[in-house]
Amino acid sequence: MDKKNILLVDDDEIILDVVKETLENFNYRVTLCNSPQKAIDILKKDRFNLIITDLSMEVMTGIELSRYIIENHQDPPPIIIMTGYGSIETVVEAMQLGVKDYILKPFKVSNFINVVEKTIKNAELEKENLKLKEFLEIYALSENINNTLDINDVSGKLINNIHKIMKPDISALYLNKNFNIFKTSPDIFVTNEKDKLIANSLFEKIPTKIYLDTILKLLKNTNSPYYYSDTKINLNIDIDYKSILVYILKTSEILGFAVMIYLHQTSDIYKKKLSPLKIIFDEGSIAIENANLHQKNKDIFLKVLQSLAMTIDAKDAYTHYHSINVSIYSKILAKKLQLPEKEIEEIGYGSLLHDIGKIGIPESILNKPSKLTDTEYEHMKQHPVIGKSILHSMKEQFPTLLDMVYYHHERYDGKGYPDGLDKNTIPLYVKIITLADSFDAMSSDRSYRMKLPFNIIVEEIKKNRGTQFDPDVVDSFLESLPEIQSKLQKPNGGVNGSN
Ligand SMILES: [Fe+2]
Repeated sequence: MDKKNILLVDDDEIILDVVKETLENFNYRVTLCNSPQKAIDILKKDRFNLIITDLSMEVMTGIELSRYIIENHQDPPPIIIMTGYGSIETVVEAMQLGVKDYILKPFKVSNFINVVEKTIKNAELEKENLKLKEFLEIYALSENINNTLDINDVSGKLINNIHKIMKPDISALYLNKNFNIFKTSPDIFVTNEKDKLIANSLFEKIPTKIYLDTILKLLKNTNSPYYYSDTKINLNIDIDYKSILVYILKTSEILGFAVMIYLHQTSDIYKKKLSPLKIIFDEGSIAIENANLHQKNKDIFLKVLQSLAMTIDAKDAYTHYHSINVSIYSKILAKKLQLPEKEIEEIGYGSLLHDIGKIGIPESILNKPSKLTDTEYEHMKQHPVIGKSILHSMKEQFPTLLDMVYYHHERYDGKGYPDGLDKNTIPLYVKIITLADSFDAMSSDRSYRMKLPFNIIVEEIKKNRGTQFDPDVVDSFLESLPEIQSKLQKPNGGVNGSN
């Protein structure tokens, strides 16, 4: 086993020799030092497992030496103080400072060695625990950044984690608009609510571009991803702060940056936290890039669905906006019913496609200006079934989408089609689309009649509360009337017979 290194500090040469011999007998490697000043110098060069210092020394006491080491050493070794009887109060003071133990002189060798062994062992354990704890914390934090693809979630979690690790007074995360941007205002965190005003004004006053240009200039010619200053950077703002740390978020391009501001005292905590900070920023950059890609994919998907919806609606000269309108109204109702963001998004997709099965219905039926015959109506009623089969390949990724298409003509009272589901079996997201679909059909011109006045439509929907429509959805509709009315588009048309 490696010998443990002990630094022994005492201005009494005789004591030094006696203690050294005792420790060496127990297999420790001992460095002697007859003045505190020399001890400070030695500590700059060499590493020790333990420091044992006398309490009463000329020039600097053992307490003053301990305080100096604890406050100035990056990773101070444990310290034991040797003292004679009658100095217990001073020893208590030393322990409060962070000194680990004390030895009363004259000591029994076995007691002395016990204290030395125990102190070294405890310090090693403490270090291991700290490392493990820090690793687990960082691991949990980076996991938590990566478990979402929503850009707002990612950036919120990222800056929250950075704030926890770095403990600034204010921190903010900017995602840069000039490089593919998704956010224009930063996420801001403050340690004390009273600094919120300062934080807001600080970040409102400086446009992202000025910040980024300044930081990039400062980082020019270095490979460093961060910049630290304990003086103010020239940003032309009149708020006092003591130190600032800026860290760039980067993959193959710069995605944004985080600013950490210490208002009241300088803090170079980052020096100790550089490796966790690097992990968090690396993970964060990847998560932001993934979220950005995901958003782009979703945008493309939505555009494809919208084109498809326009194609469906174009089969009828009156119905150009029907699917898009139903999507707008459905999302308003879903929000009012406080459905989760993801479900609202899916309802948006499903409502765009609800009538996709009409692609398989002849235009002569869709555009017929008079009442449909029974055979024609039966044919028309096939459009949810056709729609479901068209979307069959999307069943795995979007199971609810197929439900929305297949069931959008079901009724709360069980009198709908194709399966005659009722209030207990129709999913809420379908009930929402059903109402939005009927509302848009009534508020649009049809091939055989003009649109109905708004107040008549509202009365009609109220009349069917609990028969055709779910009462909760009707209530949400009534509460959303001003918003729905403001979205009414023209000219749009209903779709013959079946909405
Ligand atoms: Fe329909």
